[in-house]
Amino acid sequence: MSVPPPDLTELLGALPPHRRDLFGARVERWWPDLLDGLSVYADPAAVGERVVALAARAFAERDDELHALDLRRTLAPDWFQRPEAVGYAAYVDRFAGDLRGVVDKVGHLQRLGVTYLHLLPLLKPRPGDNDGGYAVMDYRSIREDLGTMEDLRDLTDTLRGEGISLCLDLVLNHVAAEHEWAVRARAGEQRYRDYFHVEADRAAVDAWEETLPEVFPDFAPGSFTWDDDLEAWVWTTFNSWQWDVNWANPDVFCEYADIVLHLANHGVEAIRLDAIAFTWKRLGTACQNQPEVHALTQALRTVTRLAAPATIFKAEAIVGPRDLVQYLGKGRHHGKVSDLAYHNGLMVQVWSMLAAGDVRLATEALQRLDPIPASTAWITYARCHDDIGWAIDDGDAAAVGLHGWSHRSFLADFYSGDFPGSWARGLVFQHNPATGDRRISGTLASLAGLECGDPLALDRILLAHAVVLGWGGLPVLWMGDEVGLLNDPDWADEPGHEGDNRWAHRPRMPWPVDEDGALLQRVRRLVRARAATPHLHASTGTTVLDPHDTGVLLTLREHPLGPMVSAYNVTATERWVWGDRLRELGLDPDSCVDRVSGEPPHLAGPGDVRLRPYQAVWLTAP
Ligand code: GLC
Repeated sequence: MSVPPPDLTELLGALPPHRRDLFGARVERWWPDLLDGLSVYADPAAVGERVVALAARAFAERDDELHALDLRRTLAPDWFQRPEAVGYAAYVDRFAGDLRGVVDKVGHLQRLGVTYLHLLPLLKPRPGDNDGGYAVMDYRSIREDLGTMEDLRDLTDTLRGEGISLCLDLVLNHVAAEHEWAVRARAGEQRYRDYFHVEADRAAVDAWEETLPEVFPDFAPGSFTWDDDLEAWVWTTFNSWQWDVNWANPDVFCEYADIVLHLANHGVEAIRLDAIAFTWKRLGTACQNQPEVHALTQALRTVTRLAAPATIFKAEAIVGPRDLVQYLGKGRHHGKVSDLAYHNGLMVQVWSMLAAGDVRLATEALQRLDPIPASTAWITYARCHDDIGWAIDDGDAAAVGLHGWSHRSFLADFYSGDFPGSWARGLVFQHNPATGDRRISGTLASLAGLECGDPLALDRILLAHAVVLGWGGLPVLWMGDEVGLLNDPDWADEPGHEGDNRWAHRPRMPWPVDEDGALLQRVRRLVRARAATPHLHASTGTTVLDPHDTGVLLTLREHPLGPMVSAYNVTATERWVWGDRLRELGLDPDSCVDRVSGEPPHLAGPGDVRLRPYQAVWLTAP
């Protein structure tokens, strides 16, 4: 039986009629999606009414400029899918000192063509070690040395004026043990104890642990932490001071809905749903990627559609290839969950291809990914602030004659520089002796060979950028990669960082950077080439083609303007793309243009395209 939406008269009484009508129309449009998402709770309509009330208040408080932005984004919902859209990610302090300092760096971003800026966690974290800000103590204030909520609002205003959308993290799987909810739970308030997963009985903890993988086996083994005040175990997937919240409790949902609205009303345009895969727990499972995660994301996304539709969601689900596409919406959630999701699979395959000089595994793995909704986009990236975990599926590996475990092991050896002839200089992060997993830390430049002085390092860095910029998602460049920053040799010196070598690839930006540097110039050229290539709009999918050369990744984008064929030589030797293959795909090699160089491709023989070591070409009709 369908439940009617709540009566809005009282909620919106003070607003002018046109605003009331607008909100009413949105509720009518999105109420069914909200109810559907909330169906994980016993009384979806009751929770729905609370949520609509929160949204109505936020809608009433939203300032005129943001209402205007809502209108503009509703008219152009593909803004983040366009070839002109390019992202950049950075820690505020490492990039610019503080929030005001970011304003001074806008010129650098603009010269790079950046339109989307992800600033790593900046809400008030717990004192001391806080996992790079991912242990939030207060969602409504800013880390003191970075600025104030007022500064955040000023920054979003400035960025918006310059055509840059701000993305912030919403850490929604856990709070710091010092967050008010946790403090009140420890003080004995049942309401807040119910915000967490608390188990008084060790046998119950053991039953959960039986199927839970360890995220930080080195510095935080296990997934529960004993708390003397609670006289119980509390669920802590990550560090012992990051308490997982209980999303099965609708009060928790309402708290986060309100936080999302608060950020949106400060002009935040994209919300990164941190560690979203972990938010629903089910006994006997790994407690990741549960169906309820997607239902609740849909409900939360509806909240922004009601009050702040300019706001989009980005899922941070670093999960295996079989679970990834769901974060952009499959089945009943198609197009209704996150707008963006990290293409972890592509990132891992870029490094796998470069180490192996072979594209067969990447081709197999990427071909097996389901298409994503046309209204969404992958975040394409070569690396981020986290380590690289070797998310290689055993089945994909077996399909190309590899052994999954051995290949993962090879990649860990290769990128830690242990493999004979390796040019990479990464660090092993979280060696798990139980599974043999060894994740890797390192900047793009250090992993690509610049640190050890390999003469082809720059070409590899550019190839990685070309894949990321030429895939047809929203590419996000990591701070410093555009100028080839190496691992920070002093990463362990800062108190609290010594046990976490991810800080090696989170260096400080060494201003002033050489704006005329060769790498920076070439990255900028790639960004400009992308912006000028309409075929790269994310609504068109990328198909990975069977390779005729195991050293060349071949992709096809069938755009209404005509086909775009990209070829990426992942080897240190010269390779070719056969002319016949291009003709089959609808491109005439004699008249096509390489969008990367802006010139006709270099031909050899009967229309074969020659590729230099690590060269990328994006071929289209002129
Ligand atoms: C995400 C973040 C990572 C953090 C974890 C726990 O994966 O990217 O840096 O450690 O969540 O919040």
